[in-house]
Order: sequence, then C-alpha cells, then structure tokens
Amino acid sequence: MSIKILGTGSYLPENRVTNDDLAKLVETSDEWIASRTGIRERRIASFETTTYMAAKAGKRALKQADVCPDEIDMILVATLSGDHATPNTACQVQEIIGADKAVCMDLSAACSGFIFALNTANVYIESGLAKTVLVIGAESLSKLVDWKDRGTCVLFGDGAGAAVVTKGTGIYETVMGSNGSKGAVLTCGERKLSNLLVDTKQELEQIKMDGQEVFRFAVRTVPSCIRELLKKAGLCCEEIRYYLLHQANLRIIQSVAKRMKEPEEKFPVNVDLCGNTSSASIPILLDEWNRKGNLSQGDKIVLCGFGGGLTWGAILLEWESNK
Ligand code: ACO
Repeated sequence: MSIKILGTGSYLPENRVTNDDLAKLVETSDEWIASRTGIRERRIASFETTTYMAAKAGKRALKQADVCPDEIDMILVATLSGDHATPNTACQVQEIIGADKAVCMDLSAACSGFIFALNTANVYIESGLAKTVLVIGAESLSKLVDWKDRGTCVLFGDGAGAAVVTKGTGIYETVMGSNGSKGAVLTCGERKLSNLLVDTKQELEQIKMDGQEVFRFAVRTVPSCIRELLKKAGLCCEEIRYYLLHQANLRIIQSVAKRMKEPEEKFPVNVDLCGNTSSASIPILLDEWNRKGNLSQGDKIVLCGFGGGLTWGAILLEWESNK
C-alpha cells in the first residue's frame, strides 16, 4: 500500500531578510553565516501567521491536484509554531479553505514533522479511514527565535509547504525514530506548571540549541536512517533519483552526501534562500522541485527529516505523475 502525491504547494513570506540585514541586529557577518550554514537569506513573516501560510500552501496544492476542498477528508498540519494552542492550525486552515468534511489535527515533531504527518496520512489512507488528505508543514519560527542570540537567530526562516495525497500504486517505505533522552539538545517554549497550587514565573518561549550536538546527531543519524530505509525497500543508492532532506544547514547536507558516497547533485538545496523552516522545509523543497518539472513518473525519491525531540524519519516513495 502506498500514497500518491496529487499536488504540491508552498508559500513564503514576502519579506526577505539577508545576512547583511542580520549583521545590523547582532554581531555577525554574511561570511560567517554563509560559510557555516550555506544560508544567504530567509523569509520572515511581517503579517503572515502560521495559519495564513499553511492555508496559502494548502490552496496551491489543491489547485495543482485539481481537488476541491470538500473532497478532502483529513487535514494534517505539522508545526511547532501554531498560532494558538487551540483551535489547532489544521482547523483554522479548514475554515479558510472551506474543507468542511475534513477531520483536522496538528502534529508536533519539530523538523521531522512533515515526514511523521505524511506517514500518518498513509496509515489513515491504508486503513480506509481517509481517502484524500491534505498534509501541510507550516512554521513561523521567527516568533520563537531569540533575536539577541546570534548562534540561533541567523538559522531560521518562515514558510509553509503542502501536499495532497491519496492512494497510490508505487513503492512506499518508511523508517522513523525518536530519542527523548536527548531532548535538551534543542528546546523551545517550556510551559511550567502555573495554577492555584504552583506559582511559576513563565519564561519567554524561545529556541535554545546545542548546535554542535545537533550537527553530530544529524550527520550520524540521517545516513544510517536512509541506509535502513533502502535496505527495507530492497533498493540501492544508485536507484534513488533525489534525496530531499530537511534544510537545516548546507554543511549537514554535504556531509550526508559524502558519508553516503552519493553525488551532491542528488540533494536539492534551498536553505540558501529559505533558511531552516523546520517542518515546512521538506514540502517547500518538494513543491519547488515538482514545479520545476524535476520529478518524473517512476522516480524513486527519499524525503528525510531530523530535529528536535530528538526525532528523525525518512520516506521512500515512487513519484506518480498526475498527467
Ligand atoms: N556570527 C558570528 N559568530 C558566531 C555566530 C554568528 N551568527 N554564532 C556563533 N558565533 C560564534 C560563537 O559565539 C563562538 O565564538 P567564540 O569561539 O568566541 O565562543 C564561535 O562563533 C563558534 O561557535 P560555535 O557554536 O562553536 O559554532 P559552530 O562552528 O559550531 O557553528 C552552527 C554553529 C552553525 C550552529 C553549527 O553548530 C551547526 O551547523 N549546527 C547544526 C545545528 C542546526 O543546523 N540547527 C538547526 C536547528 S535543528 C534542525 O533543524 C535539525
């Protein structure tokens, strides 16, 4: 059993912020940021909320899929930066796009969120509980970033990406994992007990990260996760057309390519222009690659996310052209 991607869409905020712009805010430089991360600019929301971007990306995916909103029976939004604790982002997207028959929920797995959400869609479709699912990754991390911390504020960007999926006929395989004991490596927004029994001062919800530990985790885990995936699918690297990795950092992507002895050309990159958009990065890249016409019938592609939790996951799917 597998799923087929009927259409993709994405949305990036209008406002571009370059490394030079950030150098006016914190002590940094274009040279430092570009050489260590590959990032040159990112989009930062000025009026766009997470919901707004998610709905825009979702609408574009529906349009490309030629699917009406009332044909959608589930909306899954992967996000760690929803606008409200409740209603969830998916319900708010439902209202905007008019997908009245959809069941709507958010899923939180940081930068692995889109992979986990796509797998969730696959399981619902496989069980017969859903037929057509709108899967979205959307983030406005700019509201969670400590804009005084040069070690993190230069890394992230805002945006959303989406895919409309239904039952497919091609290969579909997945590997997922989590390691909660390493959760402290990358955290955001501790919600402390605060009630009539406990009076705790709430701290600001901001991203804190041990960058080197995250780097080590990524370059070890991603290749082994993909190798396990290929083994499960009975395929070798040469049979994979593209690896669409979470766009955290160019050096991580290059290091994964090197460790897997695969050419860098098989690893599309847009971190240079988008920064790290967490759960949105894979669907934004997928939409770009799809709209550029780089994906053909039968192409075997690997999507791989990794990040806070710690969490990681990869999906191998065979591209089924809609035409
Ligand atoms: N500009 C200039 N100097 C900086 C900046 C900056 N933006 N940020 C940190 N520095 C300084 C530090 O203060 C430090 O100075 P010091 O030596 O005087 O103390 C020096 O640069 C080295 O700092 P490190 O943190 O050791 O820098 P490192 O070489 O490890 O690079 C980086 C930091 C780019 C974050 C790297 O660790 C990395 O790529 N980690 C991966 C983490 C990642 O991509 N996270 C994204 C979120 S998680 C995810 O998506 C999976």
